[in-house]
Amino acid sequence: MSSSGRESWNTRVGFIFAAIGSAVGLGNMWRFPYMVAENGGAAFVLLYVCLLFLIGLPVMVSEFVLGRGSGASPIPALSQPEQPSWRWLGVLFVASGFLILSYYSVVAGWTIQYLLDSLTGHLFTVTPEAYFSEITFGHSSFMFHLLFMVLTIGVVLGGVERGIEICVEILVPVLVVMMLFLVAWTFLLPGASEGYAYYLQPELQNLVQVYGIWGMEVPFLDLAMLGAAAGQTFFTLSLGMGAMITYSSYLNRERDLFQEGAIISLSDLTIALLAGLMVFPFLTAFGLLAHAEDHEISTLFESVHAAFSQIGGLGSQFFGTVFFATLMVAALTSAISLLEVVTSSLMDRYDLPRLQAAAGSGFLIFLLGIPAAYRSDWLAVADGIAANLMLLFGGLMLAVYVGWIMHDPERELSKGQQWNVSGLWLFCLRYLVVPVLFLLFVQNLYNVLWNVGG
Ligand code: PHE
Repeated sequence: MSSSGRESWNTRVGFIFAAIGSAVGLGNMWRFPYMVAENGGAAFVLLYVCLLFLIGLPVMVSEFVLGRGSGASPIPALSQPEQPSWRWLGVLFVASGFLILSYYSVVAGWTIQYLLDSLTGHLFTVTPEAYFSEITFGHSSFMFHLLFMVLTIGVVLGGVERGIEICVEILVPVLVVMMLFLVAWTFLLPGASEGYAYYLQPELQNLVQVYGIWGMEVPFLDLAMLGAAAGQTFFTLSLGMGAMITYSSYLNRERDLFQEGAIISLSDLTIALLAGLMVFPFLTAFGLLAHAEDHEISTLFESVHAAFSQIGGLGSQFFGTVFFATLMVAALTSAISLLEVVTSSLMDRYDLPRLQAAAGSGFLIFLLGIPAAYRSDWLAVADGIAANLMLLFGGLMLAVYVGWIMHDPERELSKGQQWNVSGLWLFCLRYLVVPVLFLLFVQNLYNVLWNVGG
């Protein structure tokens, strides 16, 4: 604890691991591969990498500036005496945390079921499609959603140093080792190279779409693909809902925020790319790519299940267990950050003890997730609204606030600074991030309304 009585990270590694743990999750391993399959393969990966650095990194640094500067969770961080009217943005962040965790926990619950059934070997006695449809929506999905929420609440109850920090310092290295192992294994699969090509060789014509404007045919970047890539960037970096504000509020002033942001973004990107290197060879080696392109949320689970079934016997059990344990760990370290946003906001705002704040909000989130445990269409809609609309809008408004409204944001960035990039950062935030995010948000909104309307 710091002298002010607010909790703080014990070590630098503690913060970096927690932030990486938040960033790396189902977004990298479950969402990313099906987004790539749905949006034209490597071209999507290329857009995502560009957006990660041009838009994601500046927004992440803004969250750090706000979080460390105020030393508070999102709602109080955005209700400073000079700008009290921005409080609503903090409230939006907490609402996004509620919505995301509610369905995230359902998918994370599936990973526990896959893990247990890999351990016992039951998983490999049923076909991937039958197993997926049996366990993912219904009572067992409900029970494991509950179990996962209880686990998440348990860690958050432990607090920043004893709960989150200890947990991520063990789990994040475990995660990386397990992933490297699996990537090495898939590399040896016959047919893996096609998967690499699909994933890593962009067909640049996929990036372009011809728009009819006033009777003319105008080729331009495919905005729908760009909008989906932006949603994915925000989701995977845990941006646009205050997770990074919250985590950096427990940070002291000796660190270079830009450097920390760069380390975290690069690590997240590396792990997302590794996840792709793991999943796409499975898809091509076992002929599942076409299936992935239209089966969205089941892509990862079914393909990995099919792949491991081919090994046979104890080998299936071993690889399955390692893989689903990896996935569950990744999901847990992300879920913790989602719940911490809500918990710390309630603690700061209403002076609640950690126990009540974490358990109470965790319970409400569990209730909100129940529909997603029973219906796949609900899950897909909640995910689309959260990532493509709420996170993007949250990120846009944050960039407007830090870039244009906040008084002297460069001052906080300059504390502990080793790389002198404040001017460049602010310039990017104002003239690149704000207009691009505005355009993409409008595009995604149009897409959602158009889809709903017909
Ligand atoms: N980044 C996490 C993932 O990729 C999800 C997440 C989103 C976590 C927003 C916190 C905030 O799985």
